[in-house]
Amino acid sequence: MGLCTQKGEAGIGAPRRRTMSLEQLLEKIPRGSPDEGLAREVNFEALPSHIAIIMDGNGRWAAQRHLPRVEGHRAGIEAVREAVETSARLGIGALTLYAFSVENWKRPVTEVTALMTLLKRYLRLELDTLNRNNIRFQVIGRNEELSPDVLAELAAGQEATSRNTGLLFNIALNYGGRAEIVDAARRAIQSGVRPEDLDERKFSEFLYTAGQPDPDLLIRTSGEMRVSNFLLWQIAYAEIWVTDTLWPDFRRRHLLEAVLAYQKRDRRYGGINPTPALSR
Ligand code: FPP
Repeated sequence: MGLCTQKGEAGIGAPRRRTMSLEQLLEKIPRGSPDEGLAREVNFEALPSHIAIIMDGNGRWAAQRHLPRVEGHRAGIEAVREAVETSARLGIGALTLYAFSVENWKRPVTEVTALMTLLKRYLRLELDTLNRNNIRFQVIGRNEELSPDVLAELAAGQEATSRNTGLLFNIALNYGGRAEIVDAARRAIQSGVRPEDLDERKFSEFLYTAGQPDPDLLIRTSGEMRVSNFLLWQIAYAEIWVTDTLWPDFRRRHLLEAVLAYQKRDRRYGGINPTPALSR
């Protein structure tokens, strides 16, 4: 990616060099392309601080091409690369991708194995790129239920990128929103917190995403209108953007379209005074 690093700056949500973000983004975009037009429309003062994506439609993408489902997941890796790179170049604080849910164990063992293998390979191949671009990688989910080889690869990836201060890239793996809330409740009880001291802010400290801003923007591909047990606590006020595009076809242009749509929304947080994202 060759992205200008910002090591040494404070972490998520910290003020960034906004003008640099447009330059960084344009570095990779062909001059005069539709993507350039979209990039120039982005208001870098009103970016979502956290984007979460439900990557859906890999199986359908493969079926349309008479390929095995796993080929859809394999093709989805390129979309992952592009979403991560574009988020980093935009100057987004955190990106969370839903890679494997607690319910996904119901899939054929061959598909589960293929997904885990793809994830391990992705991490091994992308580690240098993540580091070069100051991206910190982290896994959220019930890690303890993953196999030792996957855990070892994840731990190596997390350790190798732990000192980076740019984009925080969360992969939700063996993740379930309800499971996360149950896990947080267990941790809260174990911590000995007194019931009268437990409020929403305190509770969020026990979530997998402790310390991170909640997603402002939730993207779902393949046209399904569901949240599928993803970040249930954290998406309380997220703006939702759904595209019919299947995940393997998701590119920079779609992410930019989602950000631009987000910037046109009025975010009221239950209040009555419209607060356009643009004026935040
Ligand atoms: C949903 O499509 C997609 C998944 C369950 C897996 C997503 C995983 C990847 C893109 C690869 C590994 C990820 C990373 C972060 C390196 P589906 O199979 O449910 O599609 P369908 O609804 O069309 O059947």
